[in-house]
Amino acid sequence: MAQLLALHGPNLDLLGRREPEHYGRATLAAIDSLLAEEALRAGHRLMSFQSAAEHALIERIHVAASEGVAGIVFNPAGYTHTSVALRDALLAVAIPFVEVHLSNPQSREAFRRHSYFSDIAVGTVAGFGAESYRLGLLGLLSHLASAG
Ligand code: DQA
Repeated sequence: MAQLLALHGPNLDLLGRREPEHYGRATLAAIDSLLAEEALRAGHRLMSFQSAAEHALIERIHVAASEGVAGIVFNPAGYTHTSVALRDALLAVAIPFVEVHLSNPQSREAFRRHSYFSDIAVGTVAGFGAESYRLGLLGLLSHLASAG
């Protein structure tokens, strides 16, 4: 059984009522329970954490390393396009992660087209709403299984 972490950046606590045309109607609680169920079905345990604070997300990544977390499903939200410090935290702990986005940032404003995470992620899933998270988790599990 592996320990997994779903990590959510700023404003994702407002899912369900935040710009539904971009992010859909699913709440973060619904997404977290869907992920926990999917992980359990595969015999793993998934914890979740959301924060608007960059330092809190960084500290959660550090704690994940000491907890032996095997993989992270990460939606950095607005920090996708700004955060060298979060990128460095993931590189420091070397925990494999999948980058997920509800919307497809490539089809939106130009400033969303650059991610500080895509080139160091196992993979990226974007544009499928809440389903991006589930597909991201399945991709992460497949990566962990093949990495042994
Ligand atoms: C997002 C896309 C980001 O550009 C945006 O800042 C978000 C959410 C997504 O899930 O589609 O907050 O990561």
